[in-house]
Amino acid sequence: MTEVKAVEIKAKLIPIYIMGKKYEVPETLTIMKAIEYAGYQYIRGCGCRGGVCGACSTVYRKPGSYKIMSGLACQTVVEPEMYLTQIPFYPAIRSTYTFEKLTGKPEEVFDLYHELFRCVACNACSKVCPMDVEVMDYIAALKRGDIKAAAEISFDCIQCGLCASRCMGELPQYHIAQLARRINGRYLTPQAEHLKTMVANIEAGRYQESLTGLKVMDINMLKETYTAREMEPATGGEDWIPKENIGL
Ligand code: FES
Repeated sequence: MTEVKAVEIKAKLIPIYIMGKKYEVPETLTIMKAIEYAGYQYIRGCGCRGGVCGACSTVYRKPGSYKIMSGLACQTVVEPEMYLTQIPFYPAIRSTYTFEKLTGKPEEVFDLYHELFRCVACNACSKVCPMDVEVMDYIAALKRGDIKAAAEISFDCIQCGLCASRCMGELPQYHIAQLARRINGRYLTPQAEHLKTMVANIEAGRYQESLTGLKVMDINMLKETYTAREMEPATGGEDWIPKENIGL
């Protein structure tokens, strides 16, 4: 606690505006920490603090610029005179569907999200994305019926909703991309054979004895066993299988 205070005192203070009110905050802080420094307490709009949950999307303007900038509050460092607000949730319609009833055809995506065809290819969605996802490109891929491409292009999406906030066609892009990734995972990607074998082994009780043994180990023995475990080598390649499964 004392150390944190020392850093705060040393850092130069700069003025920023949080939801219209001016504050002096250390220039080294992220927007999220600056907001807390200014006295706000996060109840919503804060999740992982690591740039992966998408809960902290923020829009801001800088002095002398007409541009609306955007970023994640937990990743973006404050700048002097930044005029900002957080939008932890952006309303966008999500279609409801029973996933098991889908078959993975592009027409199903069209039916669930006919808004796709309202896209005018302005690319505002890609420009605003804090993860640099080419949002317009995955929407274009879906319009062509290429669900796999859409799933791959949108892989880094963290569902923050900033794309939907800027869309003049009023698409809920991030929800559509989520459907594409689900379909890709379930229907378009080949099933992992080794996973089937592993599930069958578990169901046959092959690991029951090991599990029972683990449950009675003391903490030191558990640590030792964990450290000595066989791990997949970083360069193992697709052919690698655990020693105990060789010959099965
Ligand atoms: S808090 Fe999760 S992305 Fe910022």
